[in-house]
Amino acid sequence: MAIRLGDTAPDFTAETTEGTLRFHEYLGDSWGILFSHPKDFTPVCTTELGQVAKLKDQFAARNVKVIGLSVDPVDDHHKWAADIEETQGAALNYPLIGDPDRKISDAYDMIHPNANNTLTVRSVFIIGPDKKVKLTLTYPASTGRNFDEILRVVDSLQLTANHSVATPVNWKDGEDVIIAPSVSNEQAAERFPGYQTIKPYLRVTKQPK
Ligand code: BEZ
Repeated sequence: MAIRLGDTAPDFTAETTEGTLRFHEYLGDSWGILFSHPKDFTPVCTTELGQVAKLKDQFAARNVKVIGLSVDPVDDHHKWAADIEETQGAALNYPLIGDPDRKISDAYDMIHPNANNTLTVRSVFIIGPDKKVKLTLTYPASTGRNFDEILRVVDSLQLTANHSVATPVNWKDGEDVIIAPSVSNEQAAERFPGYQTIKPYLRVTKQPK
């Protein structure tokens, strides 16, 4: 069964490169990003995992904990880690789950049999501190993901959670945002002084801090 936005992210116990962990406990009060990669010792995955390691400070600044997964065993992850460090110039600094029995991959519907019936696709789940799924994304094995885009979505989600604003098309950090329709004009005047009404349903304001 596919996981949908608003669902509670399934909890699990997993063997990882940082030992055995319970997923919800690992996340604690943080935001979370769970992402799968198809296979160890493969080129696109090597670049992705190195890039995620390089973004450590960006994730920390947003209170995000990252965790990767593939159906390969943890022993293979450990062996591959040396290649990631050597070729990408960044050592793994987040746990990688080994899921050879596919328990977690199946719970998150990460294996799409018509694409490949044994390997996980490139899934991403952004999970809020309430453990609800806020974003799902699926890429094919041949296309590396854009983790700058994933950070951009985290920024948007956190603005919505903290300030009742939404973000327009192609929005980037620092640009104007949209006041959520659930905010009345009276509330908007109080919370976003100087906001602009372009249409009654399209009200924009400076990005809250
Ligand atoms: C890769 O990471 O390069 C890859 C993995 C599985 C299938 C195709 C490409």
